[in-house]
Amino acid sequence: MGSPNVNGNTAKLVNAILEGASEKGAETKVYNLEALDIKGCDACQRCLESGKCVIDDDMRALYREIRSSDAVILGSPVYMWQMTAQTKLFVDRLTAFLRPDFSSRLDHKKMILVFSQGSPDRDAFKPYFDYTAGLLYYLGFDVLETIIAAGTDNVKVSSRPKLLEKARDLGRLISVSHLPGPEFFKAESGENFSI
Ligand SMILES: Cc1cc2nc3c(=O)[nH]c(=O)nc-3n(C[C@H](O)[C@H](O)[C@H](O)COP(=O)(O)O)c2cc1C
Repeated sequence: MGSPNVNGNTAKLVNAILEGASEKGAETKVYNLEALDIKGCDACQRCLESGKCVIDDDMRALYREIRSSDAVILGSPVYMWQMTAQTKLFVDRLTAFLRPDFSSRLDHKKMILVFSQGSPDRDAFKPYFDYTAGLLYYLGFDVLETIIAAGTDNVKVSSRPKLLEKARDLGRLISVSHLPGPEFFKAESGENFSI
């Protein structure tokens, strides 16, 4: 969770997805990136050969969690047309999953992206969200859905029961999917999760 606001719009959506997943028996954990010690990648490049980052900070725990998880939910508010700086520090450090030939050491980890934005125009940052999903795919994550809460300056996520229910649905769906991610979602979802 990449918002500094632990009870904010992004957190509400991330938590709703996790609620849906745990309803179906998944074990879920939330990491608040703001509260963790995550340093910027120092470009030493040693991870390319070893698969291990030499920086001794809270990413150590997150690397372990990502490797052992079935799915990762990554949420961020839009700050200055992009993900928050806290989220970007985390994403930069995912470079440790790349091999020397820049293929990923992760085997298509399922991911759901969550963005919230003040702007009511839900297409305003669409190219950026798609671009981010592409980047994460390159790093080894299959982004199955991107949930977008637009217009949070006017209506907070906490007052959008339909959106929260869709987030819970997505959590239920991701936790019971044993098929390769995108195929399962194409078959089962067909929903537009952007409201
Ligand atoms: C520093 C900062 C920059 C922001 N930049 C944008 C922006 O570029 N576009 C936008 O639509 N909203 C922007 N917002 C609004 C947030 O994206 C919006 O309020 C979001 O829902 C906050 O999520 P949270 O409740 O999880 O913290 C910005 C907010 C802050 C604090």
